[in-house]
Amino acid sequence: MNKIQIRNKTLNIPLIQGGMGIGVSLGNLAGHVMKEGGLGVISAAQPGYLEHDFKTNTIEANIRAMKNEILKARSISNGNGLLGVNLMVAAEHYDVYAKAISEMDIDVIISGAGLPLELPTLSQNPDILLAPIISSAKAMVLLVKRWLSRANRLPDLIIIEGPLAGGHLGFSWDQLNNQSYPSLESILEDVLLSIKENNWNIPVFVAGGIYTKEDIEMFLNLGADGVQMATRFITTFECDANIKFKEAFIHAKESDIRFVISPSGYPGRAIDNKLVTTLMNQEKIRVKHCYNCLKPCNPATTPYCITEALIQAVKGNIDEGLVFTGVNGYRNKSIIHVSELIDELFPERKNHV
Ligand SMILES: Cc1cc2nc3c(=O)[nH]c(=O)nc-3n(C[C@H](O)[C@H](O)[C@H](O)COP(=O)(O)O)c2cc1C
Repeated sequence: MNKIQIRNKTLNIPLIQGGMGIGVSLGNLAGHVMKEGGLGVISAAQPGYLEHDFKTNTIEANIRAMKNEILKARSISNGNGLLGVNLMVAAEHYDVYAKAISEMDIDVIISGAGLPLELPTLSQNPDILLAPIISSAKAMVLLVKRWLSRANRLPDLIIIEGPLAGGHLGFSWDQLNNQSYPSLESILEDVLLSIKENNWNIPVFVAGGIYTKEDIEMFLNLGADGVQMATRFITTFECDANIKFKEAFIHAKESDIRFVISPSGYPGRAIDNKLVTTLMNQEKIRVKHCYNCLKPCNPATTPYCITEALIQAVKGNIDEGLVFTGVNGYRNKSIIHVSELIDELFPERKNHV
């Protein structure tokens, strides 16, 4: 059983529950993962979407909601596990959110969907670990050198997100369409080699398509310190999304899992539905309100509003919504408790609690 010690923080099982926006991983899911000894993660993508002033006062609504979700997660966890927040680099007002989150009662900031080059400057709270998400050894080396030269610090851990993940993907359309992307296994090998060559001490987690206990064991044997998993946590009772969102996974077939364009500029992976078909036919969906959510998005030319689409999905309006999934989403065939899932993934943990 691989306990992980990072500075003064201990993770009893080598598991991060991946952050899922909008509203799919909030305090309830994160808190229950923590209760089982894992690292629960709240997504910082519009956590305030249910606040009364979300449309008019978005930043404050998000910060207020984040504080409440953190309180909720801490209270459910009963003092166990670690708590993280996932903040996307592509998010508009990234700096404001990074600074605000750094004042909150969390253990880790995880940041991807772009390279978080400025994160150590924005987040200087010594009690908070910083964890970038990368998709290649080249990106990792670039980022670590920048962190060392600008802030004299290494990442506290690194998450490699491979091509089988859910949400936004760090690979080009060409790579995805021609299946010419590197496997997570080969990226891990490259990353471990670069870390060794540079004599850095950085724990490495892997993400994307990890589904079973055997998958976890395989990556630990390849030298990973732990795994990040998201899609499997969607069909748990504790996941913060509407039941219809979870049922979309129960009903999905393998052929329903498709790539989709995103205003972020990155390709995404989602369950096929009316919205995905409309977008793949190059049709646009009129933007009624701009939430100013992603830096790369131009509301005048974007094919759709991703905030609106993700909110529709998490509320259960599946036809109009964007249902992000990892490649294995169709394998989720029943709704279970987080505790059952973690028992299945880490059966030996009971002897170590
Ligand atoms: C519904 C959904 C939403 C996601 N949202 C985010 C997000 O807001 N930010 C992020 O960095 N990753 C996001 N991801 C990626 C996950 O955190 C995770 O790294 C990835 O899905 C792991 O692969 P798996 O789902 O096959 O386990 C999302 C994934 C899903 C399925």
